Amino acid sequence: MKAPPKMPFLSFLIIFLFGFLSSSQLVVTTRLLNEQATLLAIGKELKLSNWDGNNSNHCTWIGISCYSNNSFVEKLDLSSHALQGNITLISELKSLKLLDLSNNFFNGKIPSVLGNLSELEFLDLSFNNFGGSIPLELGRLRNLKALNLSNNLLMNVIPNELEELEKLEDLQLYTNRLNGSIPHWVGNLTHLRVFTAYENELSGVIPNTLGSVSELELLNLHSNQLEGTIPESLFAMEKLETLVLTQNRLTGNIPKSIGNCKVLSSIRIGNNNLIGGIPSEIGNISSLNYFEADNNNLSGEIVKEFSKCSNLTLLNLASNGFVGTIPFEFGLLGSLQELIVSGNNLFGEIPTSILKGKNLNKLDLSNNTFNGTIPENICNTSRLQYLILGQNSIKGEIPNEIGNCIKLLELQLGSNYLTGTIPPEIGRIKNLQIALNLSFNHLHGQLPEELGRLDKLVSLDVSNNQLSGAIPLALKGMQSLIEVNFSNNRFKGPIPFFVPFQKSSISSFLGNKGLCGEPLNVSCESLNSSGSDAYYHHKVSYKIVLVVFGTGLAVFASVTVVVILFMKRERQEKAEQEAKAGNDDTSKKPVISEGNVFIENLKQAIDFEAVATATLKDSNKVNIGTFSTVYKAEMPSGMNLSVRRLKSMDKTLVHHRNKMIREVEKLSKLSHENLMKPIGYVVFEDIVLLLHHYCPNGTLSQFLHDHTKKPNWQTRLSIAIGVAEGLAFLHQLAIIHLDISSSNVVLDSNYNPLVGEVEISKLLDPSKGTASISAVAGSFGYIPPEYAYTMQVTAPGNVYSYGVVLLEILTTRLPVDESFGEGIDLVKWVHTAPARGETPEQILDSRLSTVSFAWRKEMLAALKVALLCTESTPAKRPKMKKVVEMLQEIITPN
Ligand SMILES: *[C@@H]1O[C@H](CO)[C@@H](O)[C@H](O)[C@H]1NC(C)=O
Ligand SMILES: *[C@@H]1O[C@H](CO)[C@@H](O)[C@H](O)[C@H]1NC(C)=O
Ligand SMILES: *[C@@H]1O[C@H](CO)[C@@H](O)[C@H](O)[C@H]1NC(C)=O
Ligand SMILES: *[C@@H]1O[C@H](CO)[C@@H](O)[C@H](O)[C@H]1NC(C)=O
Ligand SMILES: *[C@@H]1O[C@H](CO)[C@@H](O)[C@H](O)[C@H]1NC(C)=O
Ligand SMILES: *[C@@H]1O[C@H](CO)[C@@H](O)[C@H](O)[C@H]1NC(C)=O
Ligand SMILES: *[C@@H]1O[C@H](CO)[C@@H](O)[C@H](O)[C@H]1NC(C)=O
Ligand SMILES: *[C@@H]1O[C@H](CO)[C@@H](O)[C@H](O)[C@H]1NC(C)=O
Ligand SMILES: *[C@@H]1O[C@H](CO)[C@@H](O)[C@H](O)[C@H]1NC(C)=O
Repeated sequence: MKAPPKMPFLSFLIIFLFGFLSSSQLVVTTRLLNEQATLLAIGKELKLSNWDGNNSNHCTWIGISCYSNNSFVEKLDLSSHALQGNITLISELKSLKLLDLSNNFFNGKIPSVLGNLSELEFLDLSFNNFGGSIPLELGRLRNLKALNLSNNLLMNVIPNELEELEKLEDLQLYTNRLNGSIPHWVGNLTHLRVFTAYENELSGVIPNTLGSVSELELLNLHSNQLEGTIPESLFAMEKLETLVLTQNRLTGNIPKSIGNCKVLSSIRIGNNNLIGGIPSEIGNISSLNYFEADNNNLSGEIVKEFSKCSNLTLLNLASNGFVGTIPFEFGLLGSLQELIVSGNNLFGEIPTSILKGKNLNKLDLSNNTFNGTIPENICNTSRLQYLILGQNSIKGEIPNEIGNCIKLLELQLGSNYLTGTIPPEIGRIKNLQIALNLSFNHLHGQLPEELGRLDKLVSLDVSNNQLSGAIPLALKGMQSLIEVNFSNNRFKGPIPFFVPFQKSSISSFLGNKGLCGEPLNVSCESLNSSGSDAYYHHKVSYKIVLVVFGTGLAVFASVTVVVILFMKRERQEKAEQEAKAGNDDTSKKPVISEGNVFIENLKQAIDFEAVATATLKDSNKVNIGTFSTVYKAEMPSGMNLSVRRLKSMDKTLVHHRNKMIREVEKLSKLSHENLMKPIGYVVFEDIVLLLHHYCPNGTLSQFLHDHTKKPNWQTRLSIAIGVAEGLAFLHQLAIIHLDISSSNVVLDSNYNPLVGEVEISKLLDPSKGTASISAVAGSFGYIPPEYAYTMQVTAPGNVYSYGVVLLEILTTRLPVDESFGEGIDLVKWVHTAPARGETPEQILDSRLSTVSFAWRKEMLAALKVALLCTESTPAKRPKMKKVVEMLQEIITPN
């Protein structure tokens, strides 16, 4: 008989121990040995290199915690280890109470034998690629308190067997492909505190039985196909704090019983088909913070009882059928930050009582029939940033006091009946940046020169008024301008030579009989033979010369690109072979040909040979970039370094070594707190190594996608600003970065971001003839669309790549991810969200955006910046310096 290989050792041990142990202890010991064998097998299957047999105490292995009174495994936490493989064997760790495999790459079906872990209290398989149905055997985990299967690819119905999980407190099933209806037995899970199943394909009605779950605090079912009414019983749940039913097909009225929920703070029922009025009982919810019911068919008057909800910060009733006026009592809402009632049938005066609110940030009354005037005290106290009054019947003049609205980012007054002239005081609103829209009114007189002071403004629309006179030259002060519309007025004279003007389409200037010059096809000569037209002729011919010259260059560049691409591939292959050969023999001493450390007091601590040797070991590899591979190197002195080994793709680097070294040295003096400075270099065997301080907090990419860390928006925003500042600084020096990505940003011990790979950008300076190399620049997902035809890295290209990083920060999604669908990357996914009927909230990382109103607001503002940065037309993207300003602007003052 052949015994399995482990048997002799095991039986020896058991016999040996037998003399000392009672039989029950023996059983325990045998089980323990089995458990260790199981763990070794699991470690092997999941390639957990640090689980090995050399260290006999498995309780110290990574991710394992044991019971204190014996050595059985109590908790197995392998979240965020980039794992894949077969997890079936885990079901043999019979004493397991906690199993967390979240944020890995596990796929296939969830093994049904996990249902044998009868002690399990916490099971988290979220953020993987598990597919198929939820195994009904999970219903045997009778001790389970938390089950998290969210963010997988699970299909089919929620199995009825889960009804047995009577101790369940948290049930999270969001972002899967589950269908069928929400089972009525959820009502029997009387300990349930959290139930989420949003972003699935659930249909049918919300079961009435949910009302018996008296402990429920959070119910989030948004983005499904749920129909029927909001069950009255829901509001019998006295502990309910958050109710999210957005984006379903719910019908019927908002039940009066909603007023019973004394602790309800967030109600989001927008994008449904709800009808009827808002019950006045809403005023009984004293803790109400957030009420969002936009895009329904709600009607009746806006009830004044909202004013009793003294903590209300957001009220969004947009796109419904509300009538009447805004209750005067709303002035009592001292915490109100956003009032959005656009797209209703409201009329009357602009509610001055609300304008007194110190916290009011956004007032959106657009697309109604408000028929009063703009009050003079419009901005006496408020922090108003968004004043959106377009598409109404507002009369009278724009008061000079509009100039007091110095915090405004957006001012929309278009399509009203405004008369008089444009007050020059608008020029005082220095923060104005998103838009100034005065179109479709009855404004007359000249454009005030003071508008030129609005140097952050991106979009200016004064079309369809009776404005006259010349377009003032002073408007050239609007340095951020991208969109203009002067059409259908009575402007005359030459259009000032100002890039945003000439870049605009003709339609932005049409309908002004007296205007001439570019981009109109009206020469100023024919209108008025003044001396200024020679200037234009000169410009035009200059342009033609540029175009011809540019075309020649482009042809030359493309040829060079092809050649270089071939050469590059050849060299890479060779380098790879060399690298492989090198790895086989790490004992060979590297021959250092050159090296230097720029910082005097580090000279002693850095050993060039140790630096070079470290790059020969794969296990030291930290990150692989487009142009370089980063290694961690431990010096004999104990100091850790980050070593960047340049890919040997451009031999000219080696040939011009002296020049390169001068560049690196120069860069080491380049001082900005958001740039990674080289502290030295080593050259051996044609390989160039750049030395940097080692940052233990890793890269921004690792930081964002590590789901074990609790995300914090403030940290993320300050990182976003830091990265932008670093890049703005580079652009100021006319240095274009060649590979912006979250993997090329490292975080120092204070989570201050440092932009890396700057040297590469400097060494392959695109303005110095090696520009063609840029055709292969950048990391997948961060490359701006125009590269496809320009093959040039440009400052706007950098802005795009930065925008992708910002989107990553906001969404915690990878720039490229299969889950977006075929051919869709993060940028496209975000830009097409409105078309899919998704709200920004569904795009943002909800772990951040639902934490506080302030965070949500800042995130939405940052999202706008990211959208601008990732515009497909390079000219529409803001400058990096501007991005910094916009981001700093969104920080909520305390
Ligand atoms: C474990 O021990 C074996 C044999 O002694 C050795 O080859 C292996 O490198 C050790 N593993 C680790 C991770 O130290
Ligand atoms: C170990 O402690 C747990 C609870 O802490 C208990 O349930 C179990 O019975 C104990 N086991 C032994 C072998 O004492
Ligand atoms: C996983 O391993 C188990 C045995 O440990 C085996 O029965 C099962 O078929 C494997 N599953 C897959 C998908 O390979
Ligand atoms: C799991 O439990 C079922 C039912 O008790 C049993 O039939 C099966 O053998 C168990 N499987 C394993 C791998 O222990
Ligand atoms: C899964 O859900 C549980 C219970 O609500 C929660 O504690 C855990 O943090 C969630 N996991 C992830 C990765 O969000
Ligand atoms: C679930 O609750 C319903 C009534 O609410 C009851 O009829 C049924 O027996 C319960 N099921 C279990 C398993 O307790
Ligand atoms: C309003 O908010 C404050 C601060 O969060 C809190 O202390 C207070 O209890 C809230 N008021 C109500 C009625 O919930
Ligand atoms: C104005 O509101 C109505 C009613 O909600 C809506 O149908 C229409 O699309 C809105 N118009 C604009 C331009 O937003
Ligand atoms: C505004 O419109 C309402 C309803 O049409 C009307 O009663 C009211 O007099 C108007 N107010 C002003 C100031 O024109």
